[in-house]
Amino acid sequence: MIRKKIEKIRDKFQGEIQKVKDRSSLEEIKIKYLGRKGKINSLLKELINIPTDKKRVLGQELNALKEEINQTIKDFQEKILTREIQEKENQKINLTLPGKKVRVGCLHPITRLHSQIENIFRSMGFLILDGPEIESDYYNFTALNIPEWHPAREMHDTFYLENYQDKKRSYQLLLRTHTSSMQIRAMKKYGVPLAVLVPGRVFRYEATDARHENTFYQIEGFLIDRGITIANLIGILKTALSQIFNQQVKIRLRPGYFPFTEPSFEVDMFCYLCQGKGCSVCENKGWLEILGCGMIHPNVLKNGGIDAKEYTGFAFGLGSSRLAQLKYGINDARLILGGDLRFLRQEIL
Ligand code: FA5
Repeated sequence: MIRKKIEKIRDKFQGEIQKVKDRSSLEEIKIKYLGRKGKINSLLKELINIPTDKKRVLGQELNALKEEINQTIKDFQEKILTREIQEKENQKINLTLPGKKVRVGCLHPITRLHSQIENIFRSMGFLILDGPEIESDYYNFTALNIPEWHPAREMHDTFYLENYQDKKRSYQLLLRTHTSSMQIRAMKKYGVPLAVLVPGRVFRYEATDARHENTFYQIEGFLIDRGITIANLIGILKTALSQIFNQQVKIRLRPGYFPFTEPSFEVDMFCYLCQGKGCSVCENKGWLEILGCGMIHPNVLKNGGIDAKEYTGFAFGLGSSRLAQLKYGINDARLILGGDLRFLRQEIL
């Protein structure tokens, strides 16, 4: 009975050990046969009830099997180890294979352009300011000489938000439609003389096309001091634009209308996308409107706490998304914030 069991264990072990492929399955077999609760030990326990003379013979046979199993497992361990070393040898690094490409990020065209423009104006003594994107109706319109009834409000397709109420009054909040909303805040905070640049994101509820987005960037600039004239405005704009484009750029001034400047102008730039031939971005005109500007209206200076009899100033609002289109050859404004990786991965040099 016991002898039969010994033979059965031997056969089973020989069958199982041949299927072993790795260290962990070998370890499992070792525990199964040689472990404390393994097959050999359980059979040893069965020997207790057997007569002494038979016990000695069967005990020797069982020990021989134990030794046999032990040795076979050791041989297999050796084989597995040799194989592992061999595999590692074969896996040695092949220096001729192409490496894995590491993707590094790059600056967004707007970030790049803004930092270049900020540096240019900083070198001319301008203060760079940031402003809130959620703005009150007062700073975005009223204080800029655009009272509630004024038709100029219609020119800005505004995203209005819910009213904000504090103990004293309620404020109509909106997403700022232009960076001009920072003019009064800066005048009140810093007084005169004042030279400020405000780059930022603005929002308009309008249909999009190759040169219009509902979310885009502007850069506001204004300079207030005694004796400032349109000549200062044009001089600074030309200097800045030729530095941005690293060449003398072609611009033209048209009369414009903004309630917060008087006189007002609109500035077009030669369309470098089509070299003036006409394209979807410039609407086949060969010129593209890039900014609005003018001499700050005396009412605005007054609202900012500045004596309009003594001080004059100019202001401009540059469409920097549009300028980025011209500088980097982006033929659709919607690509700028569209988040398309094919666009974003093209590093601009
Ligand atoms: C203004 O926003 C005035 N605040 C500019 C200004 C500032 C005038 C200071 C006088 C003094 P306007 O709406 O024209 O103006 O916008 C200014 C520039 O922003 C435009 O010339 C254009 O380049 C750009 N722009 C306007 N709308 C869009 C749009 N939807 N998408 C992309 N760029 C736009």
